[in-house]
Amino acid sequence: MNFPKRVKVVEVGPRDGLQNERQLVPTAVKIELIDRLVAAGLPAVEATSFVSPKWVPRMGDNAEVLRAVLARHGQRPNVAFPVLTPNLRGFDAALEAGAREVAIFGAASETFSQKNINCGIAESLERFAAVVDAARALEVKVRGYVSCVVACPYEGAVDPARAAWVARRLYEMGCHEVSLGDTIGAGTPASIQRMIAACAEAVPLDKLAGHYHDTYGMAIANVYASLQMGMAVFDSAIAGLGGCPYAPGASGNLATEDLVFLLDGLAIDCGVDMDALLDAGVFIARHLGREPASKAARALLAGRAG
Ligand code: HMG
Ligand code: MG
Repeated sequence: MNFPKRVKVVEVGPRDGLQNERQLVPTAVKIELIDRLVAAGLPAVEATSFVSPKWVPRMGDNAEVLRAVLARHGQRPNVAFPVLTPNLRGFDAALEAGAREVAIFGAASETFSQKNINCGIAESLERFAAVVDAARALEVKVRGYVSCVVACPYEGAVDPARAAWVARRLYEMGCHEVSLGDTIGAGTPASIQRMIAACAEAVPLDKLAGHYHDTYGMAIANVYASLQMGMAVFDSAIAGLGGCPYAPGASGNLATEDLVFLLDGLAIDCGVDMDALLDAGVFIARHLGREPASKAARALLAGRAG
């Protein structure tokens, strides 16, 4: 086994999760959720996105959230608060709110790119290059996403070579890390390993992250398959929140509690305190009027109650 000794967990619940919730979550609740995630030891918490509020109304309080989070935690050297910026307009707004790390998000599928960001892949790369250039001049870090690395909700199966091609473009553009999104959670360990093998020929493996939605319950198996190949960065969402407004049928991200439970069981260090994580999950799940989607969280909470 080629398991890494340490894994970085990138918490995406406040963005990928809450962007897709039916209920409007008050800004103060989002801020407290992020406080709790920071307290649990997460090294990166994707705080919000600077996209059009007409397209994604749930992120309409982006500047307020980011400003408050940075006022509370901005001085911590070990926590990053990346925010999504699809274009220069979003980048400028993020910068004004104090962002020190942003993320651009492309796709391996032409139709998904059109539906998600209203332009094709080639044009998206031009927009992203402008964001990366502006960011570089200000020493703002940029993370890259590739959506639909295994399958697209509109086009079906996606050739791993296409995912690898977009990943390479984002990396060569200047992204410090490229997150590989199984947007609709259609991947299984075999297709995920084929996709990673292709991407790792284009981008160094230690610069790649796995971002797996859990639609078919395969996300944790896909993390295991990725760990076997040596991948050491994974995105997940507290309480399994999430989905994608432009990917019909996509359910939440892999739950952070499930990811940390797996890593703890493999004695892979991730620096996250499970107890504090459980509290954060209960906090947001209560606000949404349901239990955390994570099976590990439910079992551990039942144990606490007993
Ligand atoms: P557009 O319509 O092509 O842009 O949108 P436009 O330049 O034609 O402008 C149209 C309107 O949007 C104008 O306003 C602009 O001012 C405004 P209007 O005149 O109509 O009032 N606008 C903006 N407003 C706020 N912030 C901005 C911005 N840019 C333009 N940055 C755009 C292009 C990308 C903005 C739009 O398509 C959009 O917001 N899309 C939403 C994308 C999104 O957030 N998707 C979900 C996140 S991605 C995801 O979940 C996948 C991921 O998790 C990985 C995975 O799972 O695979 C990352
Ligand atoms: Mg996602």
